[in-house]
Amino acid sequence: MRHSLTLAALAAAGGAFAQSPVPAYGQCGGQGYTGSLVCVSSFYCNKVNDWYSQCVPNSGSSVSTTVKTSISSSSTTVVTKPPVTTSRTISTSKAVTTTAAASGPSPTTSGTKFVIDGKAGYYAGTNSYWIGFLTNNDDIDLVMQHLASSGLKILRVWGFNDVTTTPTDGTVYFQSFANGQPTINTGANGLQRLDYVVKSAETHGIKLIINFVNNWTDYGGMAAYFKYAGITSNTQWYNSTIAQTQYQRYIKAVVSRYVSSPAIFAWELANEPRCTGCDLSTLKTWVINTSKYIKSLDAKHMVTTGEEGFGPIAGDDGSYPYQLSAGGSNFTANCEVPTIDFCTYHLYPESWSVTPTLEWGTQWIQAHAKACSAVGKPCLLEEFGASNNCTIESSWQATALAAAGTGGDLFWQYGDTLSYGKTSQDGNTAYYGDELYACLVDKHIKAIDSL
Ligand SMILES: *[C@@H]1O[C@H](CO)[C@@H](O)[C@H](O)[C@H]1NC(C)=O
Ligand SMILES: *[C@@H]1O[C@H](CO)[C@@H](O)[C@H](O)[C@H]1NC(C)=O
Ligand SMILES: *[C@@H]1O[C@H](CO)[C@@H](O)[C@H](O)[C@H]1NC(C)=O
Ligand SMILES: *[C@@H]1O[C@H](CO)[C@@H](O)[C@H](O)[C@H]1NC(C)=O
Ligand SMILES: *[C@@H]1O[C@H](CO)[C@@H](O)[C@H](O)[C@H]1NC(C)=O
Repeated sequence: MRHSLTLAALAAAGGAFAQSPVPAYGQCGGQGYTGSLVCVSSFYCNKVNDWYSQCVPNSGSSVSTTVKTSISSSSTTVVTKPPVTTSRTISTSKAVTTTAAASGPSPTTSGTKFVIDGKAGYYAGTNSYWIGFLTNNDDIDLVMQHLASSGLKILRVWGFNDVTTTPTDGTVYFQSFANGQPTINTGANGLQRLDYVVKSAETHGIKLIINFVNNWTDYGGMAAYFKYAGITSNTQWYNSTIAQTQYQRYIKAVVSRYVSSPAIFAWELANEPRCTGCDLSTLKTWVINTSKYIKSLDAKHMVTTGEEGFGPIAGDDGSYPYQLSAGGSNFTANCEVPTIDFCTYHLYPESWSVTPTLEWGTQWIQAHAKACSAVGKPCLLEEFGASNNCTIESSWQATALAAAGTGGDLFWQYGDTLSYGKTSQDGNTAYYGDELYACLVDKHIKAIDSL
């Protein structure tokens, strides 16, 4: 989905940085410490002991010292100032330590079903694009705890956060293209935030789908690479050696951090990749090349595309999402790629102007399930929404559960009340514990468990 409200969410998520960043070599954590946990640009918060953490220079991949921020004032307005957690320091360890509770086999497939913790079946989950951008570990733990107690098993998160101007206020970002030069941010306001998401997922038995770039400009996207690669469109991005080389460097930086983590459900090429107007081979070549590359780094975890499921399917009704032109892609052809383990599709009839909403969605789910059955891999309905109408959305869940080719579904999107207030409401959000959540989650989990 395209997330037009993400800037407000980013402001909220970045709220913990309302305090000014700690200057070079200043204290940034420790028991009893109540100040900012974030260091100025080019420095990260290094835990010395339980009582003292200090801002020290980033090594290697240094963060640019550009001072001007292009983020508009509205995006940096902090709505609610969250309390700063004093008993925690942001971990600086680069690799996630696998704890005893976190051992176990990696998720895999069995025919058109998924296997998690050795059990083959249908699994439900949800999406949280913002969780990796949170700065308070307790918030992350709370979400994971709520997911686990709800019976949701899979969480899809944004594994990218690209910027073209390096934030100087401590705002979380993962890769900067400031001045057209790429820098991967492995600091405390960089991939270390994703480290904590993975660690917390391990503790709570949640399995993550992590993607590497956005088609849309929210959190940077392919457009963030343009200046560096000397290109001006997403369609060129797929064919640009410069863009693809940096994209693969970024993939390597992320995958190598969690290669041995049992909390990875799958790596995902992109959020909603489209190559409109392109020859079908452009996207497919990119799917083949990138998935092969990921498998070369990590043979154990699954890989998927993150596509919306566009393209013709035998027996389809000919509506827009089934046109080759919708995404410059052929869902079934991508599904057949040997280094793609399962096949994703999304469902937003209202955004795609296809009606009637409920019925159109039902046949879309069934058509994809048939295509996946024919290929012999699971379909994952990994995003869906109908403006919070649970009559429609729960009916789709029941259809997906009954369709042989489908291995799971993830509703868009998870909501909760965190230390700074409610997470973003983009018109398709079910908040933990509310009526919509009971309808979308509690009812669905019961139906899955009673199979
Ligand atoms: C995402 O892809 C579509 C189709 O190619 C395109 O129209 C849209 O502009 C893309 N988004 C961005 C931000 O480029
Ligand atoms: C895909 O991989 C092939 C073989 O490694 C290479 O020749 C080609 O340039 C790659 N294409 C893209 C678009 O990266
Ligand atoms: C990408 O390159 C391939 C091989 O040269 C070509 O067939 C294809 O049309 C190109 N796609 C785009 C969008 O330029
Ligand atoms: C889409 O891919 C499927 C599976 O490879 C293939 O049978 C079909 O002909 C393709 N359709 C088009 C229009 O390329
Ligand atoms: C939800 O969708 C159903 C089926 O289309 C419709 O009858 C109902 O009025 C909708 N509910 C709301 C609150 O819009």
